[in-house]
Amino acid sequence: MTFQMLGFLCAVASVFLLTPTSATNPYVAKWSTKSYGPDGPWQAVSVQLGSPAQSIDLLPGGSWMSIILAPTVCASPDCPSAAAGFYDSTKSKTPVQISSTATYTNTSFVESGDDYPNLLGDAKWIFDTLSINVVDGVSGAPFKVDVPNFDALVVSKAVITLPDSTTYVPQIGTLALGAPNTNQSWTNGGTLWNGTEVAGYLNEQARIPSNSVGLHVGSVALGIAGSLTYGGYDGSRVLGPVSSQPYGINHLPIDLLDIGIGVAEGQSPFSYSSKSGILAQGNSSVGLFQTVSVQPTAPYLYLPKSTCDAITQDLPVTYQPNLGLYFWNTLDPRYQAIVSSSAFLSFTFRLNSSISQNFTINVPFRLLNLTLTTPLVTTPTQYLPCKPYQMDGAGYTLGRSFLQAAFLGVNWQTGGQGKGSWFLAQAPGPNTPSNNPPTSMAPTDNFIIGSTNDWVTTWKGAWKVIEASGNSTSSGSNTTGSGTGGSSPNTSDKKDGISTGAIVGIVVGVIALLVGLGLGVFFYLRRRKQKVAFKDMDYTTTGELPQKSAHEIGSDLSPTELHTGRIVRELDARDRLGELPTGHERHVVRSELA
Ligand SMILES: *[C@@H]1O[C@H](CO)[C@@H](O)[C@H](O)[C@H]1NC(C)=O
Ligand SMILES: *[C@@H]1O[C@H](CO)[C@@H](O)[C@H](O)[C@H]1NC(C)=O
Ligand SMILES: *[C@@H]1O[C@H](CO)[C@@H](O)[C@H](O)[C@H]1NC(C)=O
Ligand SMILES: *[C@@H]1O[C@H](CO)[C@@H](O)[C@H](O)[C@H]1NC(C)=O
Ligand SMILES: *[C@@H]1O[C@H](CO)[C@@H](O)[C@H](O)[C@H]1NC(C)=O
Ligand SMILES: *[C@@H]1O[C@H](CO)[C@@H](O)[C@H](O)[C@H]1NC(C)=O
Repeated sequence: MTFQMLGFLCAVASVFLLTPTSATNPYVAKWSTKSYGPDGPWQAVSVQLGSPAQSIDLLPGGSWMSIILAPTVCASPDCPSAAAGFYDSTKSKTPVQISSTATYTNTSFVESGDDYPNLLGDAKWIFDTLSINVVDGVSGAPFKVDVPNFDALVVSKAVITLPDSTTYVPQIGTLALGAPNTNQSWTNGGTLWNGTEVAGYLNEQARIPSNSVGLHVGSVALGIAGSLTYGGYDGSRVLGPVSSQPYGINHLPIDLLDIGIGVAEGQSPFSYSSKSGILAQGNSSVGLFQTVSVQPTAPYLYLPKSTCDAITQDLPVTYQPNLGLYFWNTLDPRYQAIVSSSAFLSFTFRLNSSISQNFTINVPFRLLNLTLTTPLVTTPTQYLPCKPYQMDGAGYTLGRSFLQAAFLGVNWQTGGQGKGSWFLAQAPGPNTPSNNPPTSMAPTDNFIIGSTNDWVTTWKGAWKVIEASGNSTSSGSNTTGSGTGGSSPNTSDKKDGISTGAIVGIVVGVIALLVGLGLGVFFYLRRRKQKVAFKDMDYTTTGELPQKSAHEIGSDLSPTELHTGRIVRELDARDRLGELPTGHERHVVRSELA
């Protein structure tokens, strides 16, 4: 063996030996085997906080603040909140508290003196080591990563108030998806104190490819496992076009253009095959669109009352004013038919902030058969998660119940707000690969690509296709295209006197023509779409978002104040150019727990 050969082999060996440790791969978070209510069941991720480690389950979602429940939220030993685990800072050897962070007493955590009724309590910032179980996206090796000085808003007392003014204690905390900055920093005796976020820290340590996350919350009832990836995303959770748009300082806004009802396969359980115009139905103030926040920490679909009325018009549900939600009338035969069928609610949004292009996410009624449990009801009760919502300065919100069927990603692009993008796309049904290798997000990616998997196929076997009724001779082939607005039935069956051969000839010719046209249009649209998308992104970032980072905007304020609710609210208001002058973050915090 020559020395060259030896050198070559060494080089090869070193590549093999070094690759797993030196490459930065996305990390895939481990989910808990438990699920949580009282309006789910919802899946959660398992983490440990403090040393020695205290295990807690958290709902992934939100930015900047992770809400961590302390054992004092609940005095009784059979408290439902105990199931997810508590963090007791007095039992940890490594908690840090600094004097310059805000402390909240009997408030909504965000603004002192706020009388917002839904969530009140006591909370303070504590920094401690967070450990999170992950799997390396390439090698598949499981391991634990430590995130020191993790930024936790530890809640020692909390109650949520229902519309009928009864109260209950939140059952689980939240794990923020990150923030526009690597750290959340406070001035502390002349120096900066840095509280860390998971993706920001792992990226700064060059362990993941970017300060980014990909999330699909999935469904317990239908067996769709949760997916949370740091530094990338699971491409099989991303179907069809992916919309990219700028994020707000503490929320993920997008324009909702319409809501519809459709059927993916077979006959409709309704008296129509599809319906549109539901968002603005019966309310002339809704206009062409409503900006909504997509918020995984909020459970429901918070929409105008007129929209919930329109959604429920043909559904066997009953409104419950004490909860502000709808119960399914499970004894009504239409309940079984609708909730087991391939019928869905469709949400049409602006694509890439474009003024002319849109995309649609279908949420099957299979997923809108959720369960309320104690303390909201005495026996488990099936409900539809539409919540008529009075917009008191806060935006309409699509919460976890929507995200059962949607993929959400954020590329924070460290460097401050106004730089990165967040992503929204259709997510699959239960027929989805487990352990699919994740795709990396590069630090400056403003667009990501999903899989070409067919959405209907991902639901195969998980819904009941309603066959054409016995009086129809053409059974089976009577499918309604998903999302298509006005398919006109009964236009076929007029073959007067054309020979079969002629028909075949015509059909082949027409198909060839359509394929040709389709390809032409496809490539034309693809080129045009890319141009339009980039143009619209430019427009949005220069026209609607501050060019400065959050910290730069806040520089006329002391950094100590920067993260108090008052300032966040001002930043938020500026971010939206006065569109939402008050209260958005109250809504965000409320929705994080309500
Ligand atoms: C916090 O981060 C800044 C850099 O942004 C650094 O200068 C400072 O030393 C850090 N503080 C601590 C306590 O690590
Ligand atoms: C983030 O915080 C860590 C310490 O917690 C510090 O070492 C690092 O420099 C900070 N990074 C930035 C960009 O502030
Ligand atoms: C109609 O829409 C407007 C604008 O979103 C909203 O403020 C109002 O509450 C809605 N009315 C009803 C009855 O839902
Ligand atoms: C609705 O959900 C409940 C609880 O998961 C389940 O037992 C029931 O079978 C579901 N109903 C239908 C029609 O799928
Ligand atoms: C979405 O785009 C299609 C094609 O341009 C258009 O026909 C449809 O009306 C749009 N839908 C909405 C709700 O804007
Ligand atoms: C077919 O059945 C439906 C109800 O299942 C009925 O409304 C319709 O009139 C029937 N059509 C014919 C041609 O019998």
